[in-house]
Amino acid sequence: MCDEAARSRVLVVGATGRLGGSLVRASLAAGHPTFALVRPHHFAVPDSTPLRSLAGATLVKGSLEDYPSLLEAVGQVDVVVCAVPTKQALEQKPLIRAIKEAGCVKRFIPAEFGLDPTKVQIRGMDHGFYEKKIEIRHLIESEGIPHTYVCCNFLMRYLLPSLVQPGLDAPPRDEVKIFGDGNTRGVFVEETDVAKFTICTIDDPRTLNNTLYLRPLGNVYSMNELVDLWEKKINKFLNKIYITEEQLLKNIEGKR
Ligand SMILES: NC(=O)c1ccc[n+]([C@@H]2O[C@H](COP(=O)([O-])OP(=O)(O)OC[C@H]3O[C@@H](n4cnc5c(N)ncnc54)[C@H](OP(=O)(O)O)[C@@H]3O)[C@@H](O)[C@H]2O)c1
Repeated sequence: MCDEAARSRVLVVGATGRLGGSLVRASLAAGHPTFALVRPHHFAVPDSTPLRSLAGATLVKGSLEDYPSLLEAVGQVDVVVCAVPTKQALEQKPLIRAIKEAGCVKRFIPAEFGLDPTKVQIRGMDHGFYEKKIEIRHLIESEGIPHTYVCCNFLMRYLLPSLVQPGLDAPPRDEVKIFGDGNTRGVFVEETDVAKFTICTIDDPRTLNNTLYLRPLGNVYSMNELVDLWEKKINKFLNKIYITEEQLLKNIEGKR
């Protein structure tokens, strides 16, 4: 049965993941009764780190492949937030079916948490990365499920630690590749902030059936600006190699 308590009851799917864990902690911190869908293999080690990190949440054993577990989990809450990886976006279909069948969910936030899939063009090289998210949006909307899409742009843990140098783990100290002219700006956000904003939005009528874009002013930087900051920090100028869009596409296609 669905609960009518004043504070929204929140279910996080993908709770043992990086963003999912932050969502659980943000939800608990905001005082929401919080439920975490956890796959059965985690319970094989009762006091494991992933389970301990969810302390305070009600753990529900289940998975996207186990429809009865989804129905049971969804039936206890008002809000469902999903944070499974994008490559598994289409696996949210049974979750959407369960939300429809349970009938008590006032808001569903699907696994997006990136660029707006309807505004990105990737020229057929992304293995359906954005199409999957769009397909899930269409299903949510055709089923009439109340929703919010969270477009947070880039998580800081990706790209930024290497100063946007694919293949590196740390910023370069001699030579840096700059894609395009380096003036296009990107938005880099901290995962815990994304989680907090996501939880803030669940009771906000302005974001119902709408998209929330996260673009904090202090988090918007071009590649040239990032390189400039890094050079000041290490007190050294880097050799800059500019790579045109055309060359980058050739590199990705392996046609050097
Ligand atoms: N904007 C960006 O730069 C950026 C970067 C990365 C990710 N993201 C977004 O962040 C979100 C989460 O990504 P993440 O990197 O935090 O994920 P992650 O750390 O890989 O965690 C994935 C979670 O999904 C769970 N899961 C996987 N398959 C499942 C299934 N069949 N049933 C139930 N749970 C399942 C995993 O459970 P187990 O622990 O059991 O495996 C885990 O809890 C995604 O929406 C992704 O698009 C955005």
